[in-house]
Amino acid sequence: MPLVGTGRIIEPGRGCAAFNAIQLEHVTAIVDGAQAANSPVVLQLSHNAVRYHGALGPIGLAALAAARAATVPVAVHLDHAESPELVREAVELGFGSVMFDASSLPYADNVRATREVVEHCHRHGVWVEAELGEVGGKDGVHAPGARTDPAEAAEFVAATGVDALAVAVGTSHAMLTRDARLDFDLIGRLRDTVGVPLVLHGSSGVSDTDLAKAVSAGMTKINIATQLNKEFTAGVRDYCERHPDVVDPRKYLGAGRDRLAAEVERLLSVIRQ
Ligand code: G3H
Ligand code: ZN
Repeated sequence: MPLVGTGRIIEPGRGCAAFNAIQLEHVTAIVDGAQAANSPVVLQLSHNAVRYHGALGPIGLAALAAARAATVPVAVHLDHAESPELVREAVELGFGSVMFDASSLPYADNVRATREVVEHCHRHGVWVEAELGEVGGKDGVHAPGARTDPAEAAEFVAATGVDALAVAVGTSHAMLTRDARLDFDLIGRLRDTVGVPLVLHGSSGVSDTDLAKAVSAGMTKINIATQLNKEFTAGVRDYCERHPDVVDPRKYLGAGRDRLAAEVERLLSVIRQ
């Protein structure tokens, strides 16, 4: 029961947090935080995290094992996959969902590449998210001005068969300050036009108040990475400053992990309405 497909915990009209893990400490902290909040959660690994490890297998299998041992529903998702090969590997490992990110391609190429991924994933019962409108910041260049056009988004969903759509509504990836200005009117129009759950990327740049408003306006899956890394790093830094002679990684990584878990629990109470 605890490892579930993403489609099982994404309910239109209700917020669902999706947290990015980089290493094992993130994985266990995300599950611990969700259990403390008694909330379902999406545990996701990005293509960049896979590049960091050099392979999907070790960290992917760890995430799946942690999900299976959890006492709350946990979905394991591949985030921002840029290659169909990585998608196929995640499907074989047992991931319940993937995000295929061809958002930097011209519209027609994005449709063609995404449709092929959807056909493969749906044959295996795997849920697919794609992106239209290109949320900025992945390359370090913030572009909060990007916007997804509702009519084009509806056409894209119909042409590809995706189960959820990431849209550009004012966020940018990897913001260190939580002062993004969301286009709530556009979120409402996308919700009314698109017909599948909407995904907010770059949610670390959004204040608690606006995260809650975004869910009320129509966003469903709320992706958060940088905010957790800020808390994890602060926990490690604080521990090392207070214990300059410590050399056992379990001490300082454990301090980071505890802080990350507390932030997951806190954010779930903001997002899961
Ligand atoms: O796909 C992951 C997210 O969009 C995370 O973005 O690091 O700005 O929270 P963030
Ligand atoms: Zn993202």
